[in-house]
Amino acid sequence: MTQSQAAFAAAPQDGEVLLRLLETRRSVGMTMLGEPGPDASTLARMLTIAARVPDHGVLEPWRFILLAGEARKRASERVSQLYAAENAAMDAEKREKFTGIIGRSLTYAPLIVLVVSKSDPEARVPVWEQDLSAGAACMNLLTAAHALGFGANWLTGWAAYSPGVHALFGLSSAEKLAGLVHIGTAKEAPAERRRPDIDAITTVWTGTD
Ligand SMILES: Cc1cc2nc3c(=O)[nH]c(=O)nc-3n(C[C@H](O)[C@H](O)[C@H](O)COP(=O)(O)O)c2cc1C
Repeated sequence: MTQSQAAFAAAPQDGEVLLRLLETRRSVGMTMLGEPGPDASTLARMLTIAARVPDHGVLEPWRFILLAGEARKRASERVSQLYAAENAAMDAEKREKFTGIIGRSLTYAPLIVLVVSKSDPEARVPVWEQDLSAGAACMNLLTAAHALGFGANWLTGWAAYSPGVHALFGLSSAEKLAGLVHIGTAKEAPAERRRPDIDAITTVWTGTD
């Protein structure tokens, strides 16, 4: 047995703890995320778990950009300027309001992880599958944050699609932002939201009709 096979076999067989975490996880509103954020070793663990996702072709079609500390203020200012510039035709009052909201959005959580999908159209695996893998990385990051005692929220919004914001954070023209995952300590436990009716979204195909 190899070392990694031994580690797999030695993993806790009782999945109840993980199942309870998955059954209770939910997003925390970004304004409800505060200090402290994860320390360096906890963050490294979170990112390692985020990158432990199915990845057809072993392309590693994602990467992470970390936004923390004072850099958030600089990002907030630059992103606000970009919003105002890219929405110059918008009604001035409305533009000012949204510029403020978008700028502040980068200042609440102590850490924002930008998950970049670097899907390659030339690769032998479809771009769709590479993007799905980036989505899985976002989801694993949320789960890891929850399991490590932090609150998190996977957001996109205007910033995720702005060419100016892409350039600001150094994305290439082929890269996309799968999400901005805000991570911090929940100021209060979030209220539950409506959850899907599994029977309503599940069918059994029998092939008999
Ligand atoms: C790709 C993606 C992008 C999202 N972007 C936003 C967003 O920009 N604004 C927002 O309010 N919610 C957004 N959401 C939803 C939040 O993540 C939301 O808080 C979450 O769906 C709550 O569900 P949960 O409690 O199961 O985590 C997004 C979700 C996904 C999957």
